[in-house]
Amino acid sequence: MLMTPAATQFVGPVTFRALSHHPVITDMWDPHGRWDEPHVALGELADLYLIAPATADTLGRLAGGLAGDVVCATALATRAPILVAPAMSDAMAESPAVQENLARLRARGVHVVGPERGPLASGKVGLGRMAEPEVIVGEVAALLSGRAGRR
Ligand SMILES: Cc1cc2nc3c(=O)[nH]c(=O)nc-3n(C[C@H](O)[C@H](O)[C@H](O)COP(=O)(O)O)c2cc1C
Repeated sequence: MLMTPAATQFVGPVTFRALSHHPVITDMWDPHGRWDEPHVALGELADLYLIAPATADTLGRLAGGLAGDVVCATALATRAPILVAPAMSDAMAESPAVQENLARLRARGVHVVGPERGPLASGKVGLGRMAEPEVIVGEVAALLSGRAGRR
């Protein structure tokens, strides 16, 4: 499991590890880490690479081909299908920049699930809610079984 530094502001890596029962990497520079180059090792190991939730910032970094954090570096370093589940405010989701970044990613073969219209963290109702976990899992299963096509 990988987390951006910003993601650790919302959920601590220890909580994430305890709940997922998987190791969590937040820092690709960690000299005590299991892998010399975690993004390369995990990118090669992956059958599918899911980024959920995918923030507007992460989508922008992916669209720009940036690799300054372990989540985006692994996205560049993998040949596995990539699935992103955007989640953000309605204004962010509808912004031309986010729409353009999603279009660029789709054109490169990145799979996108959601966002959906529904209750948002702000208390408003609108487009930007992350797809329901079961919908994301269904998309993962479809991709892994080849039903949704490979990149
Ligand atoms: C309370 C709070 C909630 C946020 N929620 C979102 C969100 O749902 N989607 C989003 O794209 N950005 C959200 N942001 C902004 C991101 O945290 C910020 O752009 C961050 O740099 C994203 O980094 P990351 O993509 O590396 O995780 C939120 C920020 C704060 C302070």
